[in-house]
Amino acid sequence: PLKNLKDVLSSVTSSKEVREATNFDTNEHDSTVSIVVVGASGDLAKKKIFPALFALYYEDCLPKHFTVFGYARSKMTDAELRDMVSRTLTCRIDKRENCSEKMEQFLKRCFYHSGQYDSEKNFAELDTKLRDHEGGRVSNRLFYLSIPPNIFTEVVKCASKSASSANGWTRVIVEKPFGRDAESSAALTRDLKQYLVEDQIFRIDHYLGKELVENLSVLRFSNLIFEPLWSRQYIRNVQFIFSEDFGTEGRGGYFDNYGIIRDIMQNHLLQILALFAMETPVSLDAEDVRNEKVKVLRSMKPLQLENVVVGQYKSHTKGGVTYPAYTDDKTVPKGSLTPTFAAAALFINNARWDGVPFLMKAGKALHSKIAEIRVQFRHVPGNLFNRSFGTDLDRATNELVIRVQPDEGIYLKINNKVPGLAMRLDRSNLNLHYAARYSKEIPDAYERLLLDAIEGERRLFIRSDELDAAWALFTPVLKELEEKKVMPEFYPYGSRGPVGAHYLAARHNVQWG
Ligand code: NDP
Ligand code: BG6
Repeated sequence: PLKNLKDVLSSVTSSKEVREATNFDTNEHDSTVSIVVVGASGDLAKKKIFPALFALYYEDCLPKHFTVFGYARSKMTDAELRDMVSRTLTCRIDKRENCSEKMEQFLKRCFYHSGQYDSEKNFAELDTKLRDHEGGRVSNRLFYLSIPPNIFTEVVKCASKSASSANGWTRVIVEKPFGRDAESSAALTRDLKQYLVEDQIFRIDHYLGKELVENLSVLRFSNLIFEPLWSRQYIRNVQFIFSEDFGTEGRGGYFDNYGIIRDIMQNHLLQILALFAMETPVSLDAEDVRNEKVKVLRSMKPLQLENVVVGQYKSHTKGGVTYPAYTDDKTVPKGSLTPTFAAAALFINNARWDGVPFLMKAGKALHSKIAEIRVQFRHVPGNLFNRSFGTDLDRATNELVIRVQPDEGIYLKINNKVPGLAMRLDRSNLNLHYAARYSKEIPDAYERLLLDAIEGERRLFIRSDELDAAWALFTPVLKELEEKKVMPEFYPYGSRGPVGAHYLAARHNVQWG
């Protein structure tokens, strides 16, 4: 009953309110949380993890006793770590407020230990420092693996042997990529499970922490008007679109080994698709939600080569500025065929979605930065207005747009009469624009996810069977693309991407929104 109360509360209130309301099940005075950022000298730690931890601290969401430890090979003192971290902290929650005092307090809780990733001895030294800070309380430890994937297992081995908690929980957040195909992903899971049980592994997909992605379930399951329409009967197609207006600059070395399908589609877009298309879960409990996601993923047909278009950006000069080609990056091999753009059509073999194309489009170095879901509804049968007055109204079907970022919002395109004496129809938007509706800034995805990991909430993390199901859909086509050395269609930096994406959509009677 306690767990259920917590679940219900967490579905309707903020985490802080949940913790206050359910404080009777945890005694904060007797326990501590140590958050160890492994790879603290790196890009992700600086850009996302430390700022998210500070934001949580600022919002009073972290436990009373907590410590943050950076761990990496680079030599750094505590003061140097604090200096590095302080440069990336912002008072973004309320820009009018001066939060320098809070920053000072937060930085005092940050420490650093330099060590090798494969040294049990170095992790044992970390353990000694952690114990000093834990002061004899029940110790809970969260390790965030912000390091390249080839060293995940050795870190987990050393940390579990020498630095796991003796009397509390030990959890590990793992960053993507989780392998590069079904086999390597399964091998990684097997390796990690030598030292951890599934419940200790928090596989992060930061798109699941984005506000509008989390809101998908609320939109579907707490409004009467959407769910009855959520099927092949009323929906013509669904589009998941990700585009960035910058290239892979600086990350070419990583990217060339993965490509856009593994970087964005197999994880971020597929996770959104699963939440979009799953059946109603029994409850909001993590296992119930993840069971439904796995079911829908396992109902999908593996992606076929004929349903994929790949592209790669080439150099383009605009306004006197020359933007580089993907292969101009020194860390990218000359003549690389790695796709920086892909479009795909996927299908779900179940009663709800049979025959509905689920289209995905993801690309780097395109004309805009956007992530959105577009739901195109069917034509109104026997449309009275189309019959009597319409010329182009046959195309004016309803469309629901869920704008994940930037400028978050949800809008529904409807047909409307233009005010006046004539009967003229117009397309308008019923618009929920977040910036206009809510004054508070939307938290970064990493804040939500870190808080959930600390609280042991697994709903927004990827379970191993979900991961297997996701790889099963993409591995065959990825292999085929590589074996057949499929040439990507080149598109200019800053353009709308290869024209092949339009032909692919047209073959499925779809127009990109
Ligand atoms: P970095 O390349 O910056 O690596 C993090 C730290 O790991 C480095 O500071 C370095 O620390 C150590 N390191 C780097 N290369 C090696 C190596 N070959 N062998 C051993 N140690 C190494 O990675 P990011 O911070 O960019 O990313 C961390 C993880 O998060 C990766 O798994 C990445 O794929 C994932 N990720 C990153 C995103 C981003 O925006 N950066 C987005 C999504 C996921 P030191 O030398 O001090 O030990
Ligand atoms: C990461 C990808 O997972 O997501 C990057 O590896 C991409 O290539 C990033 O740029 C996009 O995240 P966001 O939150 O900036 O949309």
